[in-house]
Amino acid sequence: MNVMSHPVTAAILKDKGLDIVLADGQPHYFNYYWLRDNCPSSFDSATRERSFDIFHLEAAPRAVSAELAGDALEIAWQDEAHVTRFPLAWLEAHAGAAPRPDPSDLPRKAWYGDHYPDVPRFDHATLLGDAGLRAKWIEAMLVEGFTIVTGMPDSDEALTRTANLIGQVRPTFFGDYFDVRTHIAPTNTAYTSAALELHTDTPAEEHAPGVQFLHCRANTVQGGGSLYSDGVAVANDFRKRDPEGFRLLSEIAVPFYCEHDTYDMRSRQTVIELDKHGEVSGLTISQHMLDIIDLPQDLLDDYYPAFCRFGKMLQEEKYMMRFLMKAGECMVFDNHRIVHGRAAYSATSGERYLRGCYTDRAEMRSTYRALVSEGRFRA
Ligand code: OGA
Ligand code: ZN
Repeated sequence: MNVMSHPVTAAILKDKGLDIVLADGQPHYFNYYWLRDNCPSSFDSATRERSFDIFHLEAAPRAVSAELAGDALEIAWQDEAHVTRFPLAWLEAHAGAAPRPDPSDLPRKAWYGDHYPDVPRFDHATLLGDAGLRAKWIEAMLVEGFTIVTGMPDSDEALTRTANLIGQVRPTFFGDYFDVRTHIAPTNTAYTSAALELHTDTPAEEHAPGVQFLHCRANTVQGGGSLYSDGVAVANDFRKRDPEGFRLLSEIAVPFYCEHDTYDMRSRQTVIELDKHGEVSGLTISQHMLDIIDLPQDLLDDYYPAFCRFGKMLQEEKYMMRFLMKAGECMVFDNHRIVHGRAAYSATSGERYLRGCYTDRAEMRSTYRALVSEGRFRA
C-alpha cells in the first residue's frame, strides 16, 4: 500500500481515498471516485446537473496532493490537469454517509372522527397568489393528509389550477379527470347513487395516484354525506391492538383489479403501506376492487380474520369524520393515506356533481422542497 502522510495538511493520501481530520477532530475517509465525481466543477450552474462524466476517465482517479488552503481542501489529480477545491464545511456536511436532509420528510399527525372543524382550509384565490400559503397548504397535506380548498369557482379550470399548484395532473386509465355523478351506464359504483364504502382510489394501478382532488360543483341531493378517516391513525392503533394482524396486512400483498369492456387493470398491494422509517404511510383498500385473493387457503385462515378486524376498525366512529360537502369546496387528500367514502343518496332529489383529478405524492414533496428549502444550488 502506498500510504503517504502529507507534510503540510491533515489529509493522508491512501490507495483508494484519503483521510482528513475535520472540525470534529476525527479522521474521515473519502473515496477518490466520490471526490472526483462531486468536484464543484462537475456541476453546470445553468442546468444544475452533473456535467462531468466519470465514465470518461481512463484510469481510476487518484490524488497526488491534498492540501488545506484556508477553509478548503485542494486536491490535485494524477493523470489529469485538474484541481478540485472542496470547502471543508461541504466535506463535513457529507462525512456521515447520511441521506440528504429532506424538508418534506415530516412526522405525520394522526386525526380522528371529531377533526372536521379543525381541517386546514385554504382559499383558492389566496393560494394562487401566495407562495407562503401554498407551502403551509402542502405542509398540512404532508402532516395531516387532508385539507379543504374553499372559494373554488364553478369551472373545470379551477380544479386544474388548484391541482397545478401541487403538480401536474396525473392521468389514470380513466383519463385526466373524472366526473362523479349518476351515469346512465355506470362502469363503477362511484357513478351510481349507491353508498361507497371506505376506500382508496384506483388500487389496481401499479402506482395508484398519490393526491386526490374532489371538487364539489353541486350537492343538493338527500343523502350523499361524505366519510373520511385517517388510515395512519387507524393502522397505528391496529399495530398496537393486533401486532400479528398488522404484520400480515403490511407484509403480504393481495390482488386488486378494475375491469370492464376495454381495460383490465391488475396490481398487488399490501393493505398497510410502510415508509422508509417503518412508519405507516398509507393504505390500499377497496372492497369493490379487491380481486379474488389468491393466497394459500391455510394462510387465509389467518389473513382474512385480520383483514376483517382491520376493516371493522376503519369503520369505528372514533375514526370516522362525517360531513356534507358544499359546492365551491375541493377536498384535497393523500389517496394512499386517507380512506374516503359516501352514503347513498337519492338521485332524483337534486343535483350532485363532483369533478376529480390526481397529482402524485413525489411531485407534491418536490413542490414543497422548492418552496421551503434552498436545495443544492438555489441561492
Ligand atoms: C369516488 C368517490 C366520493 C363521493 O368517486 O371514488 O370516492 O362522495 N366519490 O361521491
Ligand atoms: Zn373514491
